[in-house]
Amino acid sequence: MFDDLKRLFLPRNQDGTESLLLLVTPHNLKMKTIKSVNSINIIPRVIFGAIANSLRDPKSLRQRLIGGAWALLKLQAANSVANIDINRVTGIEGVPVNLPVDSYDRAVLCALAKLVRPKAFFEIGTYVGMTTLAVAQSSPDATIYTLDLPGPDARNDAVLEMSDEYLFDRWDRGSAFKNSPESIRIKQLTGDSATFDFSPYAGKIDMAFIDASHSYSYVKSDTEAILRILSPTGTIVWHDYPSYPGVFAYLNELGASLGSKIYHINCTGIAFSSRMALVNP
Ligand SMILES: C[S@@+](CC[C@H](N)C(=O)[O-])C[C@H]1O[C@@H](n2cnc3c(N)ncnc32)[C@H](O)[C@@H]1O
Repeated sequence: MFDDLKRLFLPRNQDGTESLLLLVTPHNLKMKTIKSVNSINIIPRVIFGAIANSLRDPKSLRQRLIGGAWALLKLQAANSVANIDINRVTGIEGVPVNLPVDSYDRAVLCALAKLVRPKAFFEIGTYVGMTTLAVAQSSPDATIYTLDLPGPDARNDAVLEMSDEYLFDRWDRGSAFKNSPESIRIKQLTGDSATFDFSPYAGKIDMAFIDASHSYSYVKSDTEAILRILSPTGTIVWHDYPSYPGVFAYLNELGASLGSKIYHINCTGIAFSSRMALVNP
């Protein structure tokens, strides 16, 4: 190897020593090997790895294969909700969001809100209030209305089909924003979304987020309520499409008759429809 190095002596230093400059020749560089790997090369590793992991944990293979295939099939079967990559949303690449990384969907919602610049935002389903707070922080001009049931027992009186029983194991609705500087712009509302009086907001809501009960009947009722209060340039965002059958079924039904197209953002649970042109054709 040292044959490839050229020795070059520089003028002597003041203390009489010599400096040495070593030049690496191109031949020396050629010794680096290039390993090209494509899908065919990883087939044995994938097959043996899958067999080994399935023997160790047979349930995981069933869950991943069947769950993954079912999720893909639903997206493929959607007849009136278009699946798009996030970069189809006009201008989204230039929108910074400053949020913890624990929820990509929340970051996507906040980025959409930054594009829409709502003056009034309505969320159905407050829960702890993490999304309420994140939207308030990223949309400083917005007043945020957020609606939830008045207490844990109210689920027993809900007029339509409830989902997600586990959400009632805790009851601290809105605690995430209660002591935040943004709380001044957040109006916490209580009631069953199926019987709540939305009429004071008619025509005033620029952006809405539907994320309460995920049954077909509640998503339909919540969407119809929001459509009555949406402004002429309003945007509706639904959460948990396509994972909840009720949300999937209702949005694919609605997509056929709604004036504006419904889009699902790939790799998220976010679906939206806007009266503004938010998506590149
Ligand atoms: C999935 S959580 C909401 C999560 C929240 N949007 C977020 O992003 O952090 C659903 C919430 O909807 C509320 N909810 C369920 N059914 C409701 C109803 N009929 N009316 C109002 N709120 C309801 C539940 O109490 C729960 O807090």
